Amino acid sequence: MSPVSARLPGEDAAQSSQSGQDVSLLTEIDHVAIAVHDLGAAIDYYRETFGAVVDHREVVESDGVEEALLKVAESYIQLLTPTRDDSPVAKYLERKGEGLHHIGYRVSDCAAALDAVKAQGGKVIDEQPRPGSRGTTVAFVHPKTAFGTLIELVQE
Ligand code: CO
Repeated sequence: MSPVSARLPGEDAAQSSQSGQDVSLLTEIDHVAIAVHDLGAAIDYYRETFGAVVDHREVVESDGVEEALLKVAESYIQLLTPTRDDSPVAKYLERKGEGLHHIGYRVSDCAAALDAVKAQGGKVIDEQPRPGSRGTTVAFVHPKTAFGTLIELVQE
């Protein structure tokens, strides 16, 4: 696969560079997500060890997870635990155990970033952007075509 090319408004695909992009679609690391069995224990660990405290807590019913967001500068550590047995995070914990689950990259336009992934033949989990936590709009990119990393595109 060649590098993804950013398209500026008004510029068509033929004009955009094939050798790399002029403007990154990724504006910030939004969050690093860590799957855990015991959310309370993980929150305590981060507070007691690093002094990092919960900024936001939410149950995301559609994903079957409860998450706690700990702010680090402009990014978050996202501690994730399943709320039901058929949640993808429950399956992940069963298969791989606790640990790094996905990286959330902040983008200014989730749909455009998702289109860029698809345009390069990348496999996606979400065909369309959908609501995420904190009122964000998100889409997941499959790890298979993303060098083994589950990527979440996050638009605030
Ligand atoms: Co996430």
